[in-house]
Amino acid sequence: MLAIGRLAPMQRHVYHDGSNRASQLASMAQFKDGSDTMTEYLWWQTGIIYQIYPRSFMDSDGDGTGDLKGIHSRLDYLEWLRVDAIWLSPVFPSPMADFGYDVANYVDIDPLFGTLADFDRLLQEAHQRGMKVLLDLVPNHSSDEHPWFQESRASRDSAKRDWYIWRDPAPDGGVPNNWHSYFGGSAWAFDETTGQYYLHLFHRKQPDLNWRNPAVRRAIYDAMRFWLDRGVDGFRVDVIWLLLKDEQFRDNPVNPNWKEGDMPGDQYQSVHTADLPEVHEIVREMRQVLDQYAERVMIGEIYLPVPRLMMYYGAAHDEAHLPFNFQLITLPWNARTIREAVDTYEAALPGGGWPNWVLGNHDQHRIASRVGPEQARIAQMLLLTLRGTPTCYYGDEIGMHDVDIPVERIQDPQGKHSPAHSRDPERSPMQWDSSPNAGFTTGVPWLPIADDYVTNNVEAQRDDATSMLALFRRLVDLRRTMPALSIGSQRSIDTSSDEVFAYLREHGNQRVLIILNFGGESQDLDLSSVSVSGRVLCTTYMDSDDNLNLGYLTLRPNEGIAIAV
Ligand code: NOJ
Ligand code: MG
Repeated sequence: MLAIGRLAPMQRHVYHDGSNRASQLASMAQFKDGSDTMTEYLWWQTGIIYQIYPRSFMDSDGDGTGDLKGIHSRLDYLEWLRVDAIWLSPVFPSPMADFGYDVANYVDIDPLFGTLADFDRLLQEAHQRGMKVLLDLVPNHSSDEHPWFQESRASRDSAKRDWYIWRDPAPDGGVPNNWHSYFGGSAWAFDETTGQYYLHLFHRKQPDLNWRNPAVRRAIYDAMRFWLDRGVDGFRVDVIWLLLKDEQFRDNPVNPNWKEGDMPGDQYQSVHTADLPEVHEIVREMRQVLDQYAERVMIGEIYLPVPRLMMYYGAAHDEAHLPFNFQLITLPWNARTIREAVDTYEAALPGGGWPNWVLGNHDQHRIASRVGPEQARIAQMLLLTLRGTPTCYYGDEIGMHDVDIPVERIQDPQGKHSPAHSRDPERSPMQWDSSPNAGFTTGVPWLPIADDYVTNNVEAQRDDATSMLALFRRLVDLRRTMPALSIGSQRSIDTSSDEVFAYLREHGNQRVLIILNFGGESQDLDLSSVSVSGRVLCTTYMDSDDNLNLGYLTLRPNEGIAIAV
């Protein structure tokens, strides 16, 4: 029987491409050209997702840490930005050993961020403005302060003992096997009370839940329903590909390519701790929970090579709607590599599988720092013109860069273990305006704010027609109004330059050619095979709206152009 407040299962309808979509749920957006082709697409396919790291977005109470009321106070901005959905990194009660990714209660809000009532207000107002809200589900591990773990660790006979992964010491008293924590060191922590080790793939304050235990599954699914019943539009699921571990606890093979200075977690190949075939059954179960509700989305955090990533769409489109595609983060930044990645990814997508692209998140250095400020514009144009749902990390729209954090101010557990791998630099507070602390807080910010905030901030860029923010807005606008960009096909175009990646987006008669110069030199191109001429829709220089002769096209250094052809 369905719980009160839950909607009936979606009515299915098979579309021409063979995919199953809920017909009655389709978004009714109308394009400027009058076509209503969008009716076949759901909001998470045509929309833009914006990731908020709540600690760093906006502080409302002067304690130096961002919070829900802060986010609420910036909804005007998000609406103006015209993003379709916000995804909040965890806001649940937590001792904050991993800043919320250590959850002590899956069904409440941490007082640092506010209250459930604050959350409901935020959700309601976001919805009123046509924005969806996604939460971060962290099912692989809880906090060691979660009552479940407290009970589990109390005795070997505890009813919840089997909710976590406990093992006897090795015969020499040492750790049960060589499994490693992603934050460095062994993944096993010894617990004095019961004389056994528990597994933690991340911080020792993040014990791994035992997903082979049906009671654990039920408990997390209940937590999902708690939020879905409140109206939450879906989840980004933390490390979904790590949920199951080898039942025989076999050692992981050593990674022969690992060298000093690499990520500590990469020292071993995670053969027995990641991407186990049985994990797909769990992903399917989670999806079934979501499918009890209308128009919800499930995004999986998955760092895997493309062929394995594709498995998470599910053989019957019954797993993640969007297995996160992190290639723009993980690959070297050059035209040839990125073109290859786009082509391979497109070719590998299962029929009906919807693509997605990501430039950055709270675990990765900022795009502007990885590729430099000029190329950051190219990256933004790429993200917002590729086929598939874009996810934008807060602040990237104004070109925020990593902030150097002195070692003694490091907050991130991964950084504390290995300063070179600290994730604090990409988590610095949002730069709103030129007032003290960038308008982020009236108190002392939990992480230092970038030095350039006085000139580089939302307010300044809003008034500058050539700014990164203006570029972002222009691209969002094009994407939202042109079916070619939001739902059109994608095809790479050969050019004579190795530094250039060009592609065509097409829908009906509408064609948009995107040409991106990944280099710092100007490039002369002949693209007359695509079209003799075209009208510039947007350039990363934000200065020209000419008609162009595509037979003699000169791209300026680091220039990207979107052209209607
Ligand atoms: C992935 C999250 O994005 C990261 O921030 C966190 O530390 C780990 N999962 C553990 O939850
Ligand atoms: Mg606060």
